[in-house]
Amino acid sequence: MTRLAIRHGSINLAQGYPDFPAPTAIKQAAADAIAADINQYAITWGAKPFRNAIAAKYARTYGMDFDPEREITVCCGATEGMIASLLAVLDPGDEVVLFEPFYENYGPDTQLCGAESRYVKLHAPDWTFDRDELRRAFTPKTKAIILNSPNNPTGKVFTRSELEYVASLCQEFDALAITDEIYEHILYDGAVHVPIMSLPGMRERSILVNSMSKTYSVTGWRVGWVLAPPDLTDSIRKVHDFLTVGAAAPLQAAGAMALGLSSEYYTGLVHEYTNRRDHIVDTLQSAGLRCFVPSGAYYVMAEIPGRGFDNDLYFVRYLIEDIGVACVPGSSFYSPSSGGGSRQVRFCFCKKYETLEAARSQLLKLKDR
Ligand SMILES: Cc1ncc(COP(=O)(O)O)c(C=O)c1O
Repeated sequence: MTRLAIRHGSINLAQGYPDFPAPTAIKQAAADAIAADINQYAITWGAKPFRNAIAAKYARTYGMDFDPEREITVCCGATEGMIASLLAVLDPGDEVVLFEPFYENYGPDTQLCGAESRYVKLHAPDWTFDRDELRRAFTPKTKAIILNSPNNPTGKVFTRSELEYVASLCQEFDALAITDEIYEHILYDGAVHVPIMSLPGMRERSILVNSMSKTYSVTGWRVGWVLAPPDLTDSIRKVHDFLTVGAAAPLQAAGAMALGLSSEYYTGLVHEYTNRRDHIVDTLQSAGLRCFVPSGAYYVMAEIPGRGFDNDLYFVRYLIEDIGVACVPGSSFYSPSSGGGSRQVRFCFCKKYETLEAARSQLLKLKDR
């Protein structure tokens, strides 16, 4: 979609990366680290100051203690964190439960491990799931459930009660919860993020994946981390070492600084993203598109208009070529066999206000067609 957007000169609300600058202090910390010659390999599972900063952040934010020596692995973004974790714990023939729609990587990640995905639907408008359907997806072959909250693409933030139910199934079926918490700080209207790992009985059976990409608007840095009990960390570190050796050393130094930022940084982040969310929701509704207001992350799912468009792919092409705005077809967040998402599209709003304003002028043209 990004390539199509460039070809047609349309505004890119497809791929989830900010078009505004990263925070100056974090960029300066990276430049300082390079100037101070932190330019060689860091230890494969992560530079000690960065692992210490990660441990301090979880103690401060969630009251969770992690041993930087045995429970933290720094990796190249959440992308590597997820595949390294899955390769470490899955065997061919294992089953993995996924909520659908899902962030595109999880399906191929599971396939690369030779495991099978079992899908459970999240239902619009509030993206709830049927507890019986979830229970039926767990079998004796289930090795793990992948859980992404706040969720891409839906903006759902799983409630404590939902997480408790997922946790009870993990315990009943002796399965792991592998969580992608990359949007943990991007929350709206008082929504609260609860790491499932913090629930009773889950510390030993959870793997928590996170990254600097979204919280600090540095998607190109490729710095993330995985938190897991020592035995799982041991396996994850081995896979990680052979996959990538390590994440960029000077950017880990900057990461140590970023994770120590004061609470005002996070309040400001939520404030700005709330304004952006309200802006795009108003635009989409004014353009005549029904959309599902997100409680977290920086995406909004919308329904394609009933008239004139066979499916999401036709609609997205029309938007890019005739209206001048790119978004992502909903079907890319569903398993091909499900046929889901064919009436949905996803817009991202991690963009400058001027980009959102320009997109608004274009999208309002939809009203006249
Ligand atoms: C849910 C989710 N997980 C992971 C990623 C990628 O994370 P990273 O840049 O840390 O590899 C994204 C990027 O859009 C995402 O939305």
